[in-house]
Amino acid sequence: MPKLGVNIDHVATLRQARGGLEPDPIEAALMCEKAGCDSIVAHLREDRRHINDRDVVELRKRINTKFNLEMSMNPEIVDIALKIGPDQITLVPERRQELTTEGGLSVARCEKKLAKIAILFNNKGIDVSVFIDPDKYEICSAIYIGIGIIEIHTGRYSLALDKKSRAKEFKKIKDSAEYAMSKGLIVNAGHGLNYTNVKQIAGIKGINELNIGHSIIARAVFSGLHKAVKDMKALV
Ligand code: PXP
Repeated sequence: MPKLGVNIDHVATLRQARGGLEPDPIEAALMCEKAGCDSIVAHLREDRRHINDRDVVELRKRINTKFNLEMSMNPEIVDIALKIGPDQITLVPERRQELTTEGGLSVARCEKKLAKIAILFNNKGIDVSVFIDPDKYEICSAIYIGIGIIEIHTGRYSLALDKKSRAKEFKKIKDSAEYAMSKGLIVNAGHGLNYTNVKQIAGIKGINELNIGHSIIARAVFSGLHKAVKDMKALV
């Protein structure tokens, strides 16, 4: 059964709308844990648009499940992450104007830099994952530099408007996941997953963890966070 990681960035986004303290993403993380999630995901962006430096310190101190910190390879963020010591980092591309992480990391294009960063974290006992598109070339590049965990970007699958294109995107994800697993990688997936499209991805045999944010927080507006996480956990 795949695990469920809940991304709490969207709670912080709401807090930032008024620049105050509410709603508190740490409180949200603790509630997600109570409802049965397996890890907490937070993205400390270079522009600090949602999660801030204090949040990551508090998350490290207070959560009891796995802390998966999403981040770019920006040197300032790398330093902060090394100091904080999450259980896992997930390296993602970051562009200033994007609404969310719009595509996967091009591992091949930054192999040297990525390998250096991965060693820094691995030496501290922190797992390193890369967020990549469902693409064999990217998987091989990750293997080449010794990365043991990948998260497959499910955004295109989630946005597919018709059955045919969704089936095409699903096949890419399934084939990539199976290939990566056959090479011994731990395979996670996420982005745009929701209460209707998650089952198909969760059904890929051997997939380790699904990381979901927006749709859980959106549902929580109506049902409360505890029920939103419990319902998603049941589907996963
Ligand atoms: N995984 C990664 C690497 C992400 O960047 C995001 C978005 O922050 C997610 C999962 C969750 O995406 P969503 O909020 O669409 O569920």
